[in-house]
Amino acid sequence: MSQLNPAFKFQDNHPPASDFELEVLEGLAKSPKVLPPKFFYDEVGSGLFDAICRTPEYYPTRTESAIIRDNVDAIARCLGRGCLLVEPGSGNSAKVRDLLAALEPHSYMPMDISKAFLQKEARKLADEFPWLDVYAVCSDFTVSMDIPIYPEGVHRVAFFPGSSIGNFEPGDAAAFMRNIRGMVGDDGGLLIGVDMKKDVGILNAAYNDAAGITAAFNLNLLTRINKKLGADFDLSAFAHHAFYNEGPGRIEMHLRSLADQTVTVAGRAIPFRDGETIHTENSYKYARDEFAALAGDAGFRLDTCWQDAGGLFSLFYFAAR
Ligand code: AVJ
Repeated sequence: MSQLNPAFKFQDNHPPASDFELEVLEGLAKSPKVLPPKFFYDEVGSGLFDAICRTPEYYPTRTESAIIRDNVDAIARCLGRGCLLVEPGSGNSAKVRDLLAALEPHSYMPMDISKAFLQKEARKLADEFPWLDVYAVCSDFTVSMDIPIYPEGVHRVAFFPGSSIGNFEPGDAAAFMRNIRGMVGDDGGLLIGVDMKKDVGILNAAYNDAAGITAAFNLNLLTRINKKLGADFDLSAFAHHAFYNEGPGRIEMHLRSLADQTVTVAGRAIPFRDGETIHTENSYKYARDEFAALAGDAGFRLDTCWQDAGGLFSLFYFAAR
């Protein structure tokens, strides 16, 4: 492996592996049935998510990227150069690349649960930015925000793009931001991308793309369960169902049974009524002030909010004080 950047370090916090079989059986035993969205992202699912981001209907990714590119100098001034930039759930670190040149952080700390993937992606990024100190941390950020010991005098900023915060229940989102607040300390900040409440037609289209990629992404969960747990879900007997639920202010994704049927999962018989659903994802949408209040509950003060001209998406910078 190349070593263009000698300032590359790796720490393994040994995040506990989730028990796929146990969590799937627990979710399918509930009423209504539910499965956690984290299980979407096997290799096929991650590829389908990237494809969703390229559909004409799914505006969040490209809108957020444009907001970052259009405001990168102002963002750098707000965050302050020379920070330690921590990215929980960094994945392929796609969005941070648009920030690094202008921001000139002291160091970048990608944090991800998938060790091999994190090592590969962080090494690649370190070699692309040879001047940058890259310290990858393998951990589950929903469990622990512990970061390796770090030099004094380097202020910390967390970066949480993509409206991933939308997957949390609002109370859990506030609790997560409170953890971030604890990690960044009194002179830190949080740069976070959030999808906005808007015209329901735009929202519904974003989760029901005409090419059927979001449907394939949702149904892939059943394929994964078939493969990993020896289940016999008939994919033609379930349908993708996604809609905006106005009350709680969220997109809900479900897999709807198209008949009365019984499916066997890990040796257990799971009955489905015609029309019954498995709730697979929530994606909360916020108004600008509503999200600022939530971050306020977590101990952050709104510094700046950047939006696209249509107000579809927001990039917030919150300061600790
Ligand atoms: C990755 C959670 C931000 O909620 O929009 C996209 C996932 N699900 N299409 C979102 C998703 C269906 C996405 N997040």
